[in-house]
Amino acid sequence: MKSRFSVIALLAGVVTSAALAREPVEPLVVPQDTDTQKVELGRQLFFDPRLSRSGFISCNSCHNLSMGGSDNLPSSIGHGWHEGPINSPTVLNSRFSIAQFWDGRAADLKEQAGGPIANPGEMAFTHDLAVDVIASIPGYVERIEAIYGDDAVSIERLTDSIAEFERTLVTPDSPFDRWLQGEADAVNSDVLAGYELFKTTGCLGCHNGPALGGTMFQKVGLLKPYETTNSAQGRLAVTGQESDRMVFKVPTLRNVELTYPYFHDGSVQTLEEAVDLMGQIQLGRQYSEQEIDQLVAFLKSLTGEQPNFPLPQLPPSAPDTPRPSPFGP
Ligand code: HEC
Ligand code: HEC
Repeated sequence: MKSRFSVIALLAGVVTSAALAREPVEPLVVPQDTDTQKVELGRQLFFDPRLSRSGFISCNSCHNLSMGGSDNLPSSIGHGWHEGPINSPTVLNSRFSIAQFWDGRAADLKEQAGGPIANPGEMAFTHDLAVDVIASIPGYVERIEAIYGDDAVSIERLTDSIAEFERTLVTPDSPFDRWLQGEADAVNSDVLAGYELFKTTGCLGCHNGPALGGTMFQKVGLLKPYETTNSAQGRLAVTGQESDRMVFKVPTLRNVELTYPYFHDGSVQTLEEAVDLMGQIQLGRQYSEQEIDQLVAFLKSLTGEQPNFPLPQLPPSAPDTPRPSPFGP
């Protein structure tokens, strides 16, 4: 009896994995590989505006975790209401990307996290000042000692913890993922028709991997130029190679319903327009209105469970904490 059971169980297992294996997209799984203490510190730092010169701008200002990890603006507002050069990408599922930033100039999340703090147009601080501020706050120093074994505060440790927190920002259980896992009525027929178009007409060639994006760099405007007034030239700025002009990291399409406006210049407001444009400039294809609606239905089915944690409480400043400069240069 026992052996018969296990044969059936085994067969069922084979059938399930075979059914899954036929789909080129895999359901998102939250990796359980993060250090809880670092995650907690990183979460506090992500929300802490004291890492900015003004004392007002945190990572969450531009990567708002209540809005899909983005700011829903064409380009971000930095220190002194400075107009940012490029659209803020979501931080959700960014751990799955081959590199960070639109042009991939940071190798990983840790390297990336140092950038905005010291960027004059973003948080406008310096790493030394950020370290001084955190080192002056007893609540932070205690945490750092508990995690790293001594109380030395360094930009290295701060970015390490921020990156660890970001690695937890994974959004599983979207309707599409539930369908992939066998819940037949998790999505409707428009979503499935859109998924079919996504696979058979070429979107998946670029938007693939666990995040449906982030696995490669591609030229925007492959078959027809991408028209923009934005001066960003993509990976050309990183490699200096002419062939990398207008080559950007393929963005994730998970939660894309939440992260408008679209493209590196934030010039496109709706998913319908974005899909229509992708068809024309990347695939040389004019989708019908119905096809666009189906593709958009598919994209909307990729909205997963959003980050869900108690709002982090930040330790108070001490008398010797360097003061913020909200209205200075
Ligand atoms: C003033 C707005 C602003 C602030 C503040 C800000 N960011 Fe960003 N972030 C951006 C913009 C804009 C980009 C894209 C820049 C580029 O690609 O050149 C970006 C890119 C990123 C990326 C790369 C995502 C990807 O898919 O390539 C990550 C991760 C990120 N930021 C995390 C952070 C963290 C962590 C902080 C806080 C230490 C932070 N950001 C602060 C605006 C901001
Ligand atoms: C040849 C590669 C390629 C193909 C094929 C392709 N894309 Fe893209 N896609 C990109 C790149 C690169 C970007 C970023 C371009 C930019 O912002 O300048 C992008 C951006 C997008 C965006 C905007 C995402 C955001 O957060 O701003 C959407 C939506 C999108 N693609 C959907 C699709 C769909 C749907 C298809 C099929 C109809 C498709 N793409 C086909 C490479 C591709």
